[in-house]
Amino acid sequence: MAPIRFTVNGAPVEVTDLHPTTTLLQYLRIHRRLTGTKEGCAEGDCGACTVTVGEWLDGRLRWRAVNACILFLPTLHGKAVLTVEGLSAESQPLHPVQRAFVDHHAAQCGFCTPGFVMALVAHRLDPENGVHLATEDVIAGNLCRCTGYRPILDAA
Ligand code: FES
Ligand code: FES
Repeated sequence: MAPIRFTVNGAPVEVTDLHPTTTLLQYLRIHRRLTGTKEGCAEGDCGACTVTVGEWLDGRLRWRAVNACILFLPTLHGKAVLTVEGLSAESQPLHPVQRAFVDHHAAQCGFCTPGFVMALVAHRLDPENGVHLATEDVIAGNLCRCTGYRPILDAA
């Protein structure tokens, strides 16, 4: 397989030895041990696996929230992947979106939280991408089974 080159949390990576149908979620969790990105449905329905992907388009870096469970590695060539681990280093202050989740009590079990956070981070990094979107639309692809959506919307 031709090398697939992209970045993960700012560090360049080159993948040469994995099957082209390896998903980004499998790569992150199994091969990189970046287990902050969660696997729920594994078919693009729940948003637990949401990460932020940057791509150079029309002369600037555009950021989008994507479901890592349905994204095959070759589609990432030349792009930048940001996971929840890349938001703030250990012992450093939380990213403002993470801080808002804490302050608004927007997580109980926390399984869905990285996905919600990364969807909101994508919107924050690239507001033009969803300029007409209501907050509800930004997180419409993310499901939470235990907290309830009121505190999540407040955090958002
Ligand atoms: S694990 Fe549910 S959308 Fe990816
Ligand atoms: S906090 Fe438990 S699923 Fe959302």
